[in-house]
Amino acid sequence: MMSATSELRRDHEVIMKVLNAMDLLRVMLRQGNKDLPLEVINDTIDFAKNFTDRCHHGKEEDVLFPALNAAGMPKDEGPIAVMLREHKQGREILARIEDALARYNHGSSSIDEVIAGIEEYIILMQHHIFKENNILFNIADMMLRSKSSELSKGYGRIEHEVMHDKHSHYEHVAESIAERINAIKK
Ligand SMILES: [Fe+2]
Ligand SMILES: [Fe+2]
Repeated sequence: MMSATSELRRDHEVIMKVLNAMDLLRVMLRQGNKDLPLEVINDTIDFAKNFTDRCHHGKEEDVLFPALNAAGMPKDEGPIAVMLREHKQGREILARIEDALARYNHGSSSIDEVIAGIEEYIILMQHHIFKENNILFNIADMMLRSKSSELSKGYGRIEHEVMHDKHSHYEHVAESIAERINAIKK
């Protein structure tokens, strides 16, 4: 049965696929025997900015969190405040990775800075998703049990407005990122 968070949990699975692939890439780069696969990195950053941040975090910030707040959960402290702070941190790390990448491309920075940013992003997002899946979303499923279809409409609206219905396109992108990174490993 659909719950208040089942669509967001499904997004998390797609995001985790990319995070796991990034982690594999991180290990390969740390070992120093692989070149930076720029095209995959660019696709990964685009995925993180559009699917993860604008669309998925948009659904949480504009639909789920306000519904929790309306049901009595405070927004300036506790889990919502922590989640909002982590979304912001994620954005800041992504901006730093892009900056490091631009400098790396101009030869003015080493690959280490790019890898360090990727590492930081993976750790933040893995912990963030773990907390949502196992704590906040369980609370939301109970608090918003009667609001599931209303929330689902809200999530659909964000997908339409923010992603122009390109959600399933990005599911393919996630698959392709994972495949290409696995292919480098061989
Ligand atoms: Fe989140
Ligand atoms: Fe999330």
